[in-house]
Amino acid sequence: MGDFLKLDCDKEIILESIIIDIKALTADDFSGHDFMHSFRVMKNAEMICEKEGGNLFLILIASLLHDVDDKKISPLTFCDKTNARNLLLKYNFNQYDTEFVLKIIDSISFSHGSEPDSLEARIVQDADRLDALGAIGIARCFAYSGNKSIAIYNKDDLSGCTGGSDTAISHFYDKLFKLSGLMKTESGRRIAEKRTDFIKLYLDEFLSEIEYKDL
Ligand code: ADP
Ligand code: NI
Repeated sequence: MGDFLKLDCDKEIILESIIIDIKALTADDFSGHDFMHSFRVMKNAEMICEKEGGNLFLILIASLLHDVDDKKISPLTFCDKTNARNLLLKYNFNQYDTEFVLKIIDSISFSHGSEPDSLEARIVQDADRLDALGAIGIARCFAYSGNKSIAIYNKDDLSGCTGGSDTAISHFYDKLFKLSGLMKTESGRRIAEKRTDFIKLYLDEFLSEIEYKDL
């Protein structure tokens, strides 16, 4: 990795080792929650932290670990956050930092989290949400949908596209277009708005193709 200029060498080594651990833990995931998602969230969080402040190391650790006990991916460890807890133990995090990181993870979920109550949690939540937007967000939405046998769209999505029909395109309205308004940091919001504009552009093209308006 070698590019976290503000971190000691031993902290970089921990981050690199955790990435390898997450790669093993998520090797069977094709729903958009593989280690590359964790890595991108970590890089998004690093970018936001540079502008907004906060404890960089704990932000990066929480970013890497944020989905290892996700309800959808690992329902059995979801309540106790066993995977994250075990990794924090493995790398000798003290009790305070362990609880701090677990609280961040607990508070960032879109659907069942409590409100993030620290700058670090707000940054990790924004970083995760950014990965649901833009070009990568579109790719993840379709990957998730294919993985869960969700259709790309149905005819109802075309009549005003208000969402709610359990298709990939409907998910744009049900969740993705709401995210920029829910961002908690100024820098996160700016990037989210840019990525949302790109999804809107994509959707315009998508709709014009299936309505044959470009003939
Ligand atoms: P995250 O890890 O970003 O918190 P989620 O676990 O909520 O995301 O979902 C993973 C990815 O799959 C996201 O990019 C999200 O937009 C997409 N996704 C989640 N639920 C649905 C759904 N019902 N239909 C289509 N895409 C979905
Ligand atoms: Ni995530």
